[in-house]
Amino acid sequence: MLLRLVAALLLLIPTGIAWAQQPVAWKTGREARAIERKVDALIARMTLEEKVGQLHLSGRGEGFDINQVRSGDMGAVMNFVVPAEVLAVQKAARESRLKIPLIIGLDAVHGFSTYFPLPLGQASSWNPELIEQAAYWTGREASAAGINWTFAPMVDISRDPRWGRALEGAGEDAYLGAVVAAARTRGYQRGGVATTPKHFVGYGAVEAGRDYNATWIPTSQLFDLHLPPFKAAFEAGAMTAMAAFTALNGMPTTAHRAMLTDLLRGRWGFRGFVTSDFGSISELRLHGIARDDAEAARKALLAGIDMDMMGDVYHKHLADEVRAGRVPMKAVNEAVRRVLRVKFHLGLFERPDVDPAAAPRQMQMPAAREVALQAAREGAILLKNADETLPVRDTVKSVAVIGAMAVPEDERVWTDPAGLGRRVITPLPDALRERLPKEVSVTYQPAFTKNCGTEFADKEAAIRAAAESDLVLAMLGEDCEFIGEAASRTKLGLPGVQQELLEALVKTGKPVVLVLATARPLILTWASEHVGAILQTFHGGTEGRTAIADILTGRYNPSGRVPMSFPRSVGQIPVYYGQLPTGRPEKPGERYASIYMDERAEPLYPFGYGLSYSHFAYANPRVSASSVRLGGSVEVAVDVTNTGARDGQEVVQLYIRQPVASLSRPVRELKGFEKVMIAAGETKTVRFKLEISNLGAHDEQGRYVVDPGEVEIYLGGSSRAAATTQFVVVRS
Ligand code: NOJ
Repeated sequence: MLLRLVAALLLLIPTGIAWAQQPVAWKTGREARAIERKVDALIARMTLEEKVGQLHLSGRGEGFDINQVRSGDMGAVMNFVVPAEVLAVQKAARESRLKIPLIIGLDAVHGFSTYFPLPLGQASSWNPELIEQAAYWTGREASAAGINWTFAPMVDISRDPRWGRALEGAGEDAYLGAVVAAARTRGYQRGGVATTPKHFVGYGAVEAGRDYNATWIPTSQLFDLHLPPFKAAFEAGAMTAMAAFTALNGMPTTAHRAMLTDLLRGRWGFRGFVTSDFGSISELRLHGIARDDAEAARKALLAGIDMDMMGDVYHKHLADEVRAGRVPMKAVNEAVRRVLRVKFHLGLFERPDVDPAAAPRQMQMPAAREVALQAAREGAILLKNADETLPVRDTVKSVAVIGAMAVPEDERVWTDPAGLGRRVITPLPDALRERLPKEVSVTYQPAFTKNCGTEFADKEAAIRAAAESDLVLAMLGEDCEFIGEAASRTKLGLPGVQQELLEALVKTGKPVVLVLATARPLILTWASEHVGAILQTFHGGTEGRTAIADILTGRYNPSGRVPMSFPRSVGQIPVYYGQLPTGRPEKPGERYASIYMDERAEPLYPFGYGLSYSHFAYANPRVSASSVRLGGSVEVAVDVTNTGARDGQEVVQLYIRQPVASLSRPVRELKGFEKVMIAAGETKTVRFKLEISNLGAHDEQGRYVVDPGEVEIYLGGSSRAAATTQFVVVRS
């Protein structure tokens, strides 16, 4: 026993666990009350300049002045990722008069040292536990490097793949978005970093998909679509929030008191602090609601922005605004209180310094890479598999891997934790060689340069390799500047020369499997008609290519599902499953219907869709009661059989529709899902509990209404779920 204890302790020492495993969470009861007293006492000792300092967030890089930390003029920093630098800046804070520790933020969006799939790819797994694990490891690695705050999760709903930032979210749906937002919040904070659900609110609805553009969101949609993921994140314990760059119905959210104060603090009771986005306070001038930075600072603070990210505007103007009587000291105190409250709840005052020597050992631990592998496997979506092109058949003796995306140099989009150890990513051809029988030859041709596929490298060599093989695996997609912030696009085909390449590969007559690594749903209409199989990934991260090889060779049976509809053409956007009904639905032969002259109305691959190497049949959809009261609940069950020859995971989805209500309701609304492993030939009963109180909707006055009446239920493996049952909601 004693020996085991000693062994266990020894195991702990070299990992330098320290803070890396300390979850952070809101404290409650006595502890929370004690914190309020400490905050009061501290505020009472602070000068106006020191107070403003707590609201000033500046970042590593040009112009960063560590003396502002020493003088107590800076309470928060960002973009420090090298542990020795984190240590130095935190030490500087302790040299300040009041020794208030820094909150140290970072966009650890899909990993820190171990990279997981992009958030949209994580959402594609429809596996909240796995998504939570990915966030946990991200938080834990970041926290081991001394970071204590992340600007994640982004919980913006987007129905517009033109918007480059769709990749940071969970797609088009409020329910899935809320489940993912909560999972990620829990995971990061369990890993040791405070979270920042962002961008409050509506950023994902930028008009025309153009980044930073205005948003126009009806009240009902704001409450039913855009706010639920935020609410879920705060209910899961998120400790800070970030306002959006954008204007919501004419009011920039950075100055939106109704959202930041009345709703967030008032109705929702949020006690943490809100940061602006990068320089967005000063941008209030450009939005046309402030004459100068001083007015911008005043409007932002009074609306409810506690912290100024990278704007230097609070730092320069807030103290003067207070002295001139334009900003009450009380408002500054309130903002400082929220910042200090979070610092105390995070335990920053007691947190030992980061140990730069120990930090590298915390990176890319086998358990983290295991989660990265599973997340990449489960996040990959098999969109097409004609004639069982996949998994690679025994008759295939030579494989040509084409496309530079198959051999990534890196899978990081944001952070660069220099010096924190290896970032090994197995190239796809190598991963395939390891998995395919020895006699199968695997050749590789990059075909295009890495510059987002904008130029050919050696096209002819690629075509030759394809023509000489039994199977072509074309790995194409979007990378570098086609990804993320400020990467909106109007054309959603494969960038650069990649479409031309794909067509040339298909022309060889060899079966082509298209493996995609993109940041959003692209327009795949041509590919869907011409290639044998399509495997969609949203940049799988550190283990991305290994996971792809597992799927292509049949070691893993794909289970990813579409989180954001794939349009047939850009002109359809926005196209999403949860639309409202129209008075003129599509009808064969009817011209005056809600259709296009030149394109079908429905998306190419709908929300919730994704193939498996197995097949699943749904039977006996049923409800526990045919009539349920407004305040009651009902159990829904369905039997799902794996009729295929392989064990596989199915994402059993439950949609509702209320055909008659006081307001038009969406044709389908996701209200539950369960990812289940079902052995070949096995039948599993999957059960859901529906609370009637969750089936309502908001009206234009922001009132939540649950209507009595019939509720249709649809159960299946996508938003086109066909097994159906129903019940009636009655008043009493
Ligand atoms: C701007 C982005 O909108 C925001 O999401 C991010 O956290 C900040 N830059 C900091 O990098």
